[in-house]
Amino acid sequence: MKKQRSYTDQTIEDIEYAGHGIIKPEGRVVFVEGVLPGEIVDVAITRKKRSHAFARVTAWHARSDERREPFCSHFADCGGCTWQYLPYEAQLRYKERFVADVLRQIGDIEEPVPLPILGCDGDTYYRNKLDFSFAPIRWITQEEVDSGQTITDRRALGFHVKGRFDRVLEVEHCYLQADPSNDIRTAAREIALAHDYSFHDPAEHTGLLRSLIVRTSEAGGVMVILVIGEDRPDIAGAFLSALAERVPSISSAFYIINTTLNDDTSPHPAFHAFGDETITERCGHLEFAIHPKSFYQTNSRQAERLYTVVREWIETDGKETLLDLYCGIGSIGLFVADLVGSVVGIESVPEAIERAVENSRLNKIGNARFYAGDVRELLATAGGQILGADQASTPVIPKPDIVVLDPPRAGLHPKVLETLLSLAPRQIIYVSCKPSTQARDLAALLERYRIERIQPVDMFPQTFHIENIVDLRLR
Ligand SMILES: C[S@@+](CC[C@H](N)C(=O)[O-])C[C@H]1O[C@@H](n2cnc3c(N)ncnc32)[C@H](O)[C@@H]1O
Repeated sequence: MKKQRSYTDQTIEDIEYAGHGIIKPEGRVVFVEGVLPGEIVDVAITRKKRSHAFARVTAWHARSDERREPFCSHFADCGGCTWQYLPYEAQLRYKERFVADVLRQIGDIEEPVPLPILGCDGDTYYRNKLDFSFAPIRWITQEEVDSGQTITDRRALGFHVKGRFDRVLEVEHCYLQADPSNDIRTAAREIALAHDYSFHDPAEHTGLLRSLIVRTSEAGGVMVILVIGEDRPDIAGAFLSALAERVPSISSAFYIINTTLNDDTSPHPAFHAFGDETITERCGHLEFAIHPKSFYQTNSRQAERLYTVVREWIETDGKETLLDLYCGIGSIGLFVADLVGSVVGIESVPEAIERAVENSRLNKIGNARFYAGDVRELLATAGGQILGADQASTPVIPKPDIVVLDPPRAGLHPKVLETLLSLAPRQIIYVSCKPSTQARDLAALLERYRIERIQPVDMFPQTFHIENIVDLRLR
């Protein structure tokens, strides 16, 4: 086997915006996982690229005073909360700095000064949705290997171990979702074992139980969705009833039958087993109906803070046309609809648009319209005459005064940037879950816009992810 290149006594110079520590042995940039500035380590190269490499720590010589003991017993094996070794205040400090760094380095923006980051009130139990996997062969931890104990039953319900599609970590307690999430997972595992149901094996493509999704809302709703790999609605129903007997706060239960090789459940219908058909999420003055497959921001409390920033930033005299691009279930547009003349939302997933329409009805909002389609194509028609045979079915997108953007991680297509620059709305509010692509897009928008303010928001404590909002004004 080829020997890995290694380096000894390396001092971590800094950490960059994806959370890696930086060292420069022999003048070459090497990114190291799980380290803090000032720490001294030996490393071994794990992956090489043309301009840089990645390495893992093989020995520690000095640790940072900032470092703390991770609070979760699964930290070493679970790929979930990768930044637990840093206190939350320090995580926020770094994230705020990362936003400025990335805007300067990628966006070429001189001296960006973000407003103080909006941290979460609670840095644990902040997710409203978790997806647990069943597996016949669980991950054996180093501790278990060292103890020499014999493990006979290896069935597990928990999270996939980082980089291993076929190994699941048995989770005792997870700090990501509030009660009754842990009770539900524990009860589900016990019910499965008591009935000796088979656990799905992705390598062999056998086994009944595939995954269990738990969705909770700030308003107290608890939805469970069981995904099974065989056409056995009878077992799904019995399983879910037994689960609700053990955890009576379950208010809604569904199952999905997925007999394909692929874990993606989006093509398969969710069948209602019992209870409410939706759970309700409250967000400021609005309520949203959450269906089993609806997208909703995973941190409900911070979603409200994020939408509140957008609401406060909108410059309005009550008559403007606002475009909510990449609108999902219409949450941002609906949250600000009472401030402006009209809202038009565009989103590529038709089911999300159905939910947006349902949510405008639920909240008695009469000035919002939503269209399913690609932003790239529909935005190009904005304010224009629509000609051609399908004139009647083509949505009419008005010329916007204000645009709110919340694209996926890849950011904006060059064609969308080009159209925005020619439509020239007087205000653009750009919400991003990936500041590096946002910075790239800002560099293009700055041709006609100036940055009014920058607001990082922390939606995902204990991780490196950052949400960032930028307010742009036409020059
Ligand atoms: C980050 S989410 C925004 C969600 C929404 N603003 C919210 O706060 O709930 C991005 C959305 O863009 C949609 N999307 C991705 N590519 C798209 C495209 N080319 N055109 C329209 N929508 C797209 C995705 O389906 C997803 O709902």
